Amino acid sequence: MPAHEAAGPPHGPARTGAAFHAVYGAGPAGVWAAPGRVNLIGEHTDYNDGFVLPLALPHTTLAAAAPRTDGALRLHSGDAPGGVVEVPYGALTPGRDLGWAAYPAGVVWAMREAGLPVGGLDLHLDSTVPTGAGLSSSAALEVATALALDGLYGLGLGRQELARLAQRAENAFVGVPCGIMDQTAAARCTTGHALLLDTRDLTARQVPLDLTGHGLRLLVIDTRVRHALADGAYAERRAGCERAARHLGVPALRDIGYGQLPDALDALTELSGVRPLVRHIVTENHRVQEVIARLDAGEPRAAGPLLTAGHASLRDDFAVSCAELDLAVDTALAAGALGARMTGGGFGGSAVALVEDAAEQEVTAAVRTAFAAAGHAAPRVFTARPGPGAHRVA
Ligand code: GLA
Repeated sequence: MPAHEAAGPPHGPARTGAAFHAVYGAGPAGVWAAPGRVNLIGEHTDYNDGFVLPLALPHTTLAAAAPRTDGALRLHSGDAPGGVVEVPYGALTPGRDLGWAAYPAGVVWAMREAGLPVGGLDLHLDSTVPTGAGLSSSAALEVATALALDGLYGLGLGRQELARLAQRAENAFVGVPCGIMDQTAAARCTTGHALLLDTRDLTARQVPLDLTGHGLRLLVIDTRVRHALADGAYAERRAGCERAARHLGVPALRDIGYGQLPDALDALTELSGVRPLVRHIVTENHRVQEVIARLDAGEPRAAGPLLTAGHASLRDDFAVSCAELDLAVDTALAAGALGARMTGGGFGGSAVALVEDAAEQEVTAAVRTAFAAAGHAAPRVFTARPGPGAHRVA
């Protein structure tokens, strides 16, 4: 049973505030929340200046926090063993092995680096965002911390600035070369909408996503696997895309239009290995626009085949799927899903399936049975309903 389902007060600001009190001997100055996300479509496009379409999950990270005058950090998590992590003032440098605490410490570091007047911090975190599931638990943690610091120190930062600082923490302090999607989703998503984000200029549109009103639902299938090669392989894909863009003489692969794809592929014949990467990015940006057109037309069912085509592209061209994700997708489709694909970075983590309400149980049961038959751990399956982005809860 996950920790948050254990006996005792449910996940919420009262419990997180009480836990803060138990750790630090006084109550917090406030409690802030930031959600995990799933991405409906637009995968690996964010570091190519392309388009993404995430939505916030109801799963959140809560950050109870208080300022400190000595500049030191004391960081505690209800989800990690090992007690309080203390970082004295002046000891905050990238690359230190702080484990989970590198994420909140990195946010403080990024803010100080940016010249923001951020002093010390006492922090306690509780999260219901599954970790290692491709659902952006790291971004939830970073953005909850960033919003808490914004509140504690009266920084008045905008949502995208918070996301940028959170991404900088992850890139430069933790050392993960992620794009901007996850932190922006945690900061800017709104209830009832998916967020269409142009990752070049960071303009966004809230796209109404009323699946319930159409008798549909978006199932999330967490395969519970995460392959060790994930981080290096992500960086390799990113480097391959950047190499291709340089060779094609464009700032980013976003600049290759769908109609220009055949010429671009011809121009890349000597650059071994990158052609499938380019094909994925260019077709994926196109699929995001096609999905948006279906949603704007009030025809969400018609988005299903585009999701499935996106999975094929991630599996065959971008090569970031794995046996468990493929099994989840293939089984969901065979059991009647309208569309299904892996979501997030890949190499394990989660898939999403667009299903008729009436087919939910059949699809869920079929996936569970297929995983058991293949000898995989039981997947976690739940329905994603678009929730709010980061906000203060107490
Ligand atoms: C991870 C990264 C994101 C994005 C996705 C793939 O979630 O953190 O920036 O690149 O993978 O779309």
